[in-house]
Amino acid sequence: MSDLIHSLYAIHDAFQKEISGIASSTDAETVRVKYLGKKGELTGVLRMMGSLTPEERPIIGQHANDIRAKMEAELETCLRKLQADEQRKQLISQTIDVTLPASPVAMGSRHPLYKAIDEICEVFLGLGYSIAEGPEVEYDLYNFEKLRLPPGHPARDTQDTFYITDNILLRTQTSPVQVRVMEKQKPPIKIVCPGKVYRSDALDSTHSPIFHQFEGLVVDKGVTMGDLVGSLQLFARKLFGENTKIRLRPHHFPFTEPSCEVDLTCWSCKGKGCRVCKGEGYVEVLGAGMVHPEVLSGCGIDPEVYSGFAFGIGVERTAMGRFGIDDIRNLYENDVRFLKQFK
Ligand code: PHE
Repeated sequence: MSDLIHSLYAIHDAFQKEISGIASSTDAETVRVKYLGKKGELTGVLRMMGSLTPEERPIIGQHANDIRAKMEAELETCLRKLQADEQRKQLISQTIDVTLPASPVAMGSRHPLYKAIDEICEVFLGLGYSIAEGPEVEYDLYNFEKLRLPPGHPARDTQDTFYITDNILLRTQTSPVQVRVMEKQKPPIKIVCPGKVYRSDALDSTHSPIFHQFEGLVVDKGVTMGDLVGSLQLFARKLFGENTKIRLRPHHFPFTEPSCEVDLTCWSCKGKGCRVCKGEGYVEVLGAGMVHPEVLSGCGIDPEVYSGFAFGIGVERTAMGRFGIDDIRNLYENDVRFLKQFK
């Protein structure tokens, strides 16, 4: 029996030696299995208890239990210390320097086309206009027919577009919004409508199948061409500088009479003549005219009582002139190197 007791204490000594030298919690587990596990050393000794007398057994059992309890407690203490060390090391290795500057967040900026739209809007809002909107997917009726462009009208050829069905299409101009507003609202009417329009044109440096127009419409008693000229003059000066002049050339639009195309003093050469204005000194920017009486009456407005003017500004032209952009494609490619310049 004393041999067994001796073995128990020898095992405890060896165990204490081993745990004093272990360096990680994984090693601690190995030691636990080696001494306290099912096939461990302590269990091995206890198995030999079969050779003892019934009186000896409880004595050895008592010793074995004491030693096991001590070993478990010692192992637990050791394990806690190891885990605390490991956690401290991990925290040190993962230290974050919160004083380091953060990586910058790249801020976007307003697209030059929308900057131009905002600037134009500001001029007209200042004149008391309000903003109207209309659908980009439009009925042939509004895009063409009610604007006096019946099926087969030659002017339709210059505004070929993308058809959804025979009578639904992508609008070729913002002018259908005039009709939509006049059908719903009675004069006085004073609206502007910026928006996307579509034509089946090939993309080149001055054309795009999707582009933007800025429509204006005023209908009231006694509205004249002089009012139109005054409004457009103000637009030209506000956007391109006080010395900017406008030039009206007679033109034909089926929905206005009389009609004109309106040029502005060339922003590049200030009127001397250059490559941008092809030597003209002026650049064409918009179409305008007095709303045709038949368009008014088609919308339920009496042309004997009311008159009105309308204009359609080319937003791309305006943005290109305003910001010195020489290729329309720059406006759609969304190359950040290009867009960054407009911050
Ligand atoms: N909608 C015409 C176009 O796209 C421009 C315009 C608008 C002309 C309003 C007169 C009045 O060419």
